[in-house]
Amino acid sequence: MAARRPIYLDHHSTTPVAPEVLDAMLPYFREDFGNAASESHSFGWRAAAAVDAARERLAAALGARPDEIFFTSGATESNNLAILGAARAGRRRRDHVVTVATEHPSVLDPCSQLEREGFSVTLLPVDDQGLIDLSELADILGERSALVSVMAANNEIGVLQPIEEIADLCRERGVLFHSDAAQAAGKLPLRVDRVEADLLSLSGHKIYGPKGVGALYVRRRRPRIRLEPLLFGGGHEGGLRSGTLPVPLIVGMAAALDLCLAELEGEAKRLRGLAEGLLARLQGELSGVKLNGHPDLRLPGNVNLTFEGVDGDRLLLSLADIAISSGSACSSASPKPSHVLAALGHSEALSRASLRFGLGRGTSAEDIEWAARRVIDEVRAQRSAGSP
Ligand SMILES: Cc1ncc(COP(=O)(O)O)c(C=O)c1O
Repeated sequence: MAARRPIYLDHHSTTPVAPEVLDAMLPYFREDFGNAASESHSFGWRAAAAVDAARERLAAALGARPDEIFFTSGATESNNLAILGAARAGRRRRDHVVTVATEHPSVLDPCSQLEREGFSVTLLPVDDQGLIDLSELADILGERSALVSVMAANNEIGVLQPIEEIADLCRERGVLFHSDAAQAAGKLPLRVDRVEADLLSLSGHKIYGPKGVGALYVRRRRPRIRLEPLLFGGGHEGGLRSGTLPVPLIVGMAAALDLCLAELEGEAKRLRGLAEGLLARLQGELSGVKLNGHPDLRLPGNVNLTFEGVDGDRLLLSLADIAISSGSACSSASPKPSHVLAALGHSEALSRASLRFGLGRGTSAEDIEWAARRVIDEVRAQRSAGSP
């Protein structure tokens, strides 16, 4: 069977809305369009009931309570709210925040903002496979430490940090733990009754749900976490996040997470098989192809590769029939090389020779076969033309 073109291999950047998710959302754009805060008529009641049901589904999927789930506009907002909100709420007693050099900009930038507000921020390094050193984290935590933020899965190299151990360490030391789970949710088992995180960020559009919606889990017992809001207004979401709730998007996000969890094990196995096949094929036919990030502790659908002697941007341009990305799509508008690969110790030249393949639900064995052939041919062509 011929593969469809262009082939979409950029599932860390975003995913298509699943047909079942779209179906679940449509009534809330049409007849059930009410404002969930309208308490005086049935349009509002139906909208509120849909939000309640979605909150319950999300909470059940995460092992949380419904009153611990707060809807936001996406993981960017969830990360900002968790980090700025928790740090500012506790600033009188604790003013030290810890995060990691390979985090998403929506974690790093709020931490820089806290620095401008007088907090001290520690940026933990990673080893050449992208993992933090737990003993380094243990050493850096002190009486003034307020919050540790470490992502569950990296969006560029797919590396999975040991968040269970980090959560336990933070709990022992009385420090709050936030994890950006935008890439991990729906792909790995992730429950706050197992990983004792205090704050967890999710995004709708990374899990075959709609763009413009996300959620923040906020622990409400043992201990009850206090956050300062970022948005003020009508007092929605218990006063933590004012703004009319996007009911269709919230319904879609809950349906999307349920779908991912229903197929989680089988899909992880399938994607891992495809990813390993792609890697084996490229490394078998080309010299100088290196996998970035830990070989096993990674997202099943992530393959981030450095092609020695090749200019990644030129390679991307010549592979217009395959949707892949160089580094992070969120910052690909900027010409800067990836801060994640730099943290792994890559030179600028090697970072520029790197491409991220993100496999997902729609990716077939034919797609991989075809993409591998195209990449092999283009890399060979560029190398024989003497690039870069
Ligand atoms: C790890 C990670 N965190 C946060 C975000 C931001 O998510 P959103 O697009 O929902 O704001 C992304 C998206 O690229 C991501 O990959």
